[in-house]
Amino acid sequence: MLADTMTEQRAASNAPASAVTVEEALLTRRSVRAFLPTPVPRNEVERLLALASRSASNSNCQPWHVHVVTGEPKRRLTVALWEALDAGGRVAECEYPYQPASDSWPQPYGGRRAAFGGVLYRETLGIEAFDAERRLAHHRRNYDFFGAPVGMILTVSRHPLASGLVDAGLFLQALMLLARQAGLDTCAQASFIDFYPVLRRHLDLPDDQIVVCGLALGHADNHHRLNGLRTPREPVPSFTTWHGDDRR
Ligand SMILES: Cc1cc2nc3c(=O)[nH]c(=O)nc-3n(C[C@H](O)[C@H](O)[C@H](O)COP(=O)(O)O)c2cc1C
Repeated sequence: MLADTMTEQRAASNAPASAVTVEEALLTRRSVRAFLPTPVPRNEVERLLALASRSASNSNCQPWHVHVVTGEPKRRLTVALWEALDAGGRVAECEYPYQPASDSWPQPYGGRRAAFGGVLYRETLGIEAFDAERRLAHHRRNYDFFGAPVGMILTVSRHPLASGLVDAGLFLQALMLLARQAGLDTCAQASFIDFYPVLRRHLDLPDDQIVVCGLALGHADNHHRLNGLRTPREPVPSFTTWHGDDRR
């Protein structure tokens, strides 16, 4: 019930206030792709990271590492990534099996992915599928963290890979929800993986660390059309199998 009410309020106001409960944090979190330049103080970022580190991890390994980029180092990283993008320097393969090539996603995920692309590019930005130039112009914004004052690159140890990725996902989710509680917004960004050699060089990543994703953190520009985008979810029965007959 609360969920329905909040969804309606959120859609109506288009300016999510900060969240007080976990439920509110979940319901008001969305990927923000246009940020205001308003800075986020370093001690606030540190506070969020300390809280996120309370996330569970396999045998308390805590395999995550966060590279926080702001100011001039962030600008230099963006320039290097744009140069690599413009030079066609996207790597063909991730360092580890991350996702299928864009034309070989199995169903139903390929369909959901295509639907999301349609909402993002055609409905929200007015960019048609054939307009590669304008699509690229939007995609480029990933690499300046959509204008967020704080960029993060999340890495984990590659040993052990699968459990490290699960742990990193828990850490990432905690960070995104904590940001909401602090009145901040985020966007997780796998697009950085395409340029992991640039990240390796710029952030001096040790061989043992692999890139999980980027994260933009800051204050949403709630007047930007990109931030009006709302994504649907599949209903509970579509992803739940009940083993047992207790219907109370
Ligand atoms: C691991 C991960 C990687 C993502 N990578 C990108 C990305 O590179 N660029 C982007 O604009 N959004 C990215 N997203 C955001 C997803 O598109 C978004 O979470 C999804 O469409 C659901 O929408 P919502 O976050 O607004 O609820 C990523 C999300 C996750 C969890």
